[in-house]
Amino acid sequence: MSKRSPIGVFDSGVGGFTVVRALRQVLPGEDIIYLGDTARVPYGNKSPRTVERYSLGCQKFLLDRGVKLVLIACNTASAQALPALQAASEVPTIGAVEPGASAALAATRNGRIAVIGTLGTIRSGAYERAIAERNPAAHVTALACPLFVPLAEEGWIDDEITDAVARRYLLQLWQRDPAIDTLVLGCTHYPLLRKAISRVAMQIAQRDVTIVDSATAMAEAARQVLGAIDNRRELAGRLDAFATDTTRLDELAPRFLGEPLTGFELVDL
Ligand code: DGL
Repeated sequence: MSKRSPIGVFDSGVGGFTVVRALRQVLPGEDIIYLGDTARVPYGNKSPRTVERYSLGCQKFLLDRGVKLVLIACNTASAQALPALQAASEVPTIGAVEPGASAALAATRNGRIAVIGTLGTIRSGAYERAIAERNPAAHVTALACPLFVPLAEEGWIDDEITDAVARRYLLQLWQRDPAIDTLVLGCTHYPLLRKAISRVAMQIAQRDVTIVDSATAMAEAARQVLGAIDNRRELAGRLDAFATDTTRLDELAPRFLGEPLTGFELVDL
């Protein structure tokens, strides 16, 4: 493991490319190895034990390739498997929840925070715990929004159906706490729907709502953790992508990554 070693990023599927996209903006010189467990996606509606088992396999794949840092792009895996993943890793392992929680607390003006994510993420209570550890006075309202993942994958970004779904979900949050001023996108896929979610949230709240994106918060956390071992070269870093199934990846991945991708190598974990 050295300065030149790559950063490992894994996700249940292609959504984690939102984290790679943020990482390439913050640390453009770093080489990245990405693994999408596309054969077993989604993790969001599976049991914590299954998510932990799958996640350990993904992390091992990255560690075997000599990464200097592991980013758990998947919020569900971060929420349900972080302690097991950190215990099994000889290099730093960063989850999505802690950076997202810190960014939410930095953004809120009144301590009223909402978190949206998959069923698994919300059921775990991980965001509530992470926020309470940092500021016990903050108030968190959490809601699972499972339909957002297929909408993002379909590319229904600017679409009245997405707005209607967002309205139906987000109304519940402000009914529960009309004072919410900050909304955490606690899922890899949600940054794609950021505009629709933000627009609808502000219509419902009738005020400014700050959107916190856990992908950006994670990239910033990676920069801080790497400190002296980040790779500040002029050359743009390599991105090597692996997946456990390659169906539709050529179409889906660039949508999340925001740039073309030269292809995936198929792996069997
Ligand atoms: N990557 C997952 C997450 O961020 C969303 C997709 C899934 O359910 O696997 O929670």
